[in-house]
Amino acid sequence: MDNWKSLYIYFISGTGNARISSEWIADEAGKKGLKTVVQQIDRLENIVIPRADEKPLIGFAFPTHGFNAAPIMLRFIAGFPPGLCKEVFLLNTRAGMKLYKLFMPGLSGVALLLPAFILWLKGYKCIGFRPVDLPSNWIPLHPGLKKKVIESIFIRCEKIVRKFANKILTGKKVYKGLESTPVDLLLSPIALGYYVGGRFFLSKTFIANYNCNNCGLCIKECPTSSIKLVGTRPYWKLTCESCMRCLNHCPQRAIEAAHGMATAFWIIFTAVNAQVFIFIINTLNIQPDVWWWKLTAQVIGIGGMILIATVLYRIMHYAMGLKAVKYLVRFTSLTALPFWRRYRFLKNSKNHSTSVK
Ligand SMILES: Cc1cc2nc3c(=O)[nH]c(=O)nc-3n(C[C@H](O)[C@H](O)[C@H](O)COP(=O)(O)O)c2cc1C
Repeated sequence: MDNWKSLYIYFISGTGNARISSEWIADEAGKKGLKTVVQQIDRLENIVIPRADEKPLIGFAFPTHGFNAAPIMLRFIAGFPPGLCKEVFLLNTRAGMKLYKLFMPGLSGVALLLPAFILWLKGYKCIGFRPVDLPSNWIPLHPGLKKKVIESIFIRCEKIVRKFANKILTGKKVYKGLESTPVDLLLSPIALGYYVGGRFFLSKTFIANYNCNNCGLCIKECPTSSIKLVGTRPYWKLTCESCMRCLNHCPQRAIEAAHGMATAFWIIFTAVNAQVFIFIINTLNIQPDVWWWKLTAQVIGIGGMILIATVLYRIMHYAMGLKAVKYLVRFTSLTALPFWRRYRFLKNSKNHSTSVK
């Protein structure tokens, strides 16, 4: 089917990769004379939905978070109205790296499979599955890539995305993202663990160090409105999706993923958890290897982890008022090391608002 009259892309992007990918696709569609609407979904109140007479092709672009689509996109797709068109496509940006001359791909997990399934339940057929390995923004795990490496990854990915756009816009199907399905399915338990627990823990590892001058940019720019001012310092709520926009864009380089603090939280959680389990097992006389206890223990464990991290984070937030704590947190954060680069998206692309051509 190649008689689309318009292209609608809904995207979410922490650091610009999914945004520029959407714009490359829209650019190709524009060359073919299609009306293009590219929208960032965090401004939900302004979302424009296509009319049937516009004969739209609809696409969704988003980063991969914890081997899954970014939660904000999953929620958007789950609430997306059915019946607006027949065919849709999906593009997930992943953690691209480069080792000498070798481009290293990220891992999708269920980032394409799950949204495609939800859309299929709504009557949409996915004709394009495309992972794109743009520079990794996962700065708590590794320093940002060097500018030269970022440039070469961009050159490669732009070609890939434009080729993908041309294929789907001329009615071809692209199933590139399904080639790794066996590996992706093996990763699905980790994707589930990240979705129900890991991301909440991560949201409690961000802290503003003493460079913070309260400019408020992180609060204003957060796509999920998850940063608020508590006292005089930014405070990350559980709704934070660790998209890395704040950490990478802070003009003062004041935001840290506090590794030392997170490790301390984890040690305390593990110790408390063990005591709670021993208490429950002894009090209720439970056989620890029965299946229902194993399942219950997982639920208690995840709930306990989120609760303990939240309480400790609140305490740490106030304790950061003490100079000694502030310095301790900063000097146990790998992201504070001078060589720990942030990820800066290269091109000065359009702003985050709707663009219609
Ligand atoms: C919390 C978090 C989790 C991530 N998980 C994955 C992952 O499972 N697989 C992967 O390939 N990349 C992963 N990444 C890397 C991003 O998906 C990747 O850098 C992406 O290109 C960022 O796109 P954006 O700039 O549009 O946000 C993760 C990044 C973050 C911050």
